[in-house]
Amino acid sequence: MAARVSRKVISVADAAALAQAAADRVLARIAENGGRIAICLTGGSSPKALYELLATDAYRARIPWPRVHWFIGDERFVPSSDSRNNMAVAGATFLDRFAPAANIHPIPTDLVSPGDAAARYEDELKSFYGAASLDPARPLFDLVLMGVGPDGHTASLFPGYPAVDETARWVVGVPKANVEPFVPRISLTLPALASCREMLFEVAGESKRTILTRVLSGENLPASRARSNGETVFLVDAAALAETIRGG
Ligand code: 6PG
Repeated sequence: MAARVSRKVISVADAAALAQAAADRVLARIAENGGRIAICLTGGSSPKALYELLATDAYRARIPWPRVHWFIGDERFVPSSDSRNNMAVAGATFLDRFAPAANIHPIPTDLVSPGDAAARYEDELKSFYGAASLDPARPLFDLVLMGVGPDGHTASLFPGYPAVDETARWVVGVPKANVEPFVPRISLTLPALASCREMLFEVAGESKRTILTRVLSGENLPASRARSNGETVFLVDAAALAETIRGG
């Protein structure tokens, strides 16, 4: 697998078209793998429409649920009963109804600290992967979903934080968030997120236009540095895409 291949930007009309295109890519990645499949979900508001679509008959019937495992790229250190818990949102929107419980892999948030939770999740990922170091020829995930925050963060890797430069750990505790909600976080690191066949960013709405322009221009931001060792795709809607990028 070639490292650091370039990013592809795919633009669609609006948020509804974006969710549909994302759901089609999820199904395409699933269809490519006849064995055990691993999908790393994301938090925030951007993936909610995708999750709702995956719960509809047209999509859920095409997912081989017993073979698909669901992880999360970052978590807020709040109980699973809290509406800000990323995996709880995915659970309530689609996972809990269709996925076998053993195939849902939340980041634990009932431990003493985010650091403890990170260490536990790293152990879980390593045990699932079956090795303690990542082999570029054998990606950890089939698909990693991502979002872009207003400060250019992705997962819970915030600009200027040491977590962005972590190369050894797969998962780290992030004691303080740079944006709301201001709760401690747990995040997969760039090398762990990169270990996938496809990294798929969903970016929609005018409020994302400025930061998306900065990310796509290659500014040194976590969302610019996050790349798959396979394919990296930015799925964006017209409102988020600046004229200058659209033209070029
Ligand atoms: C989180 C996320 C985070 C998110 C971006 C975009 O836990 O907050 O995983 O990285 O993807 O902040 O968030 P929105 O989709 O809400 O704009």
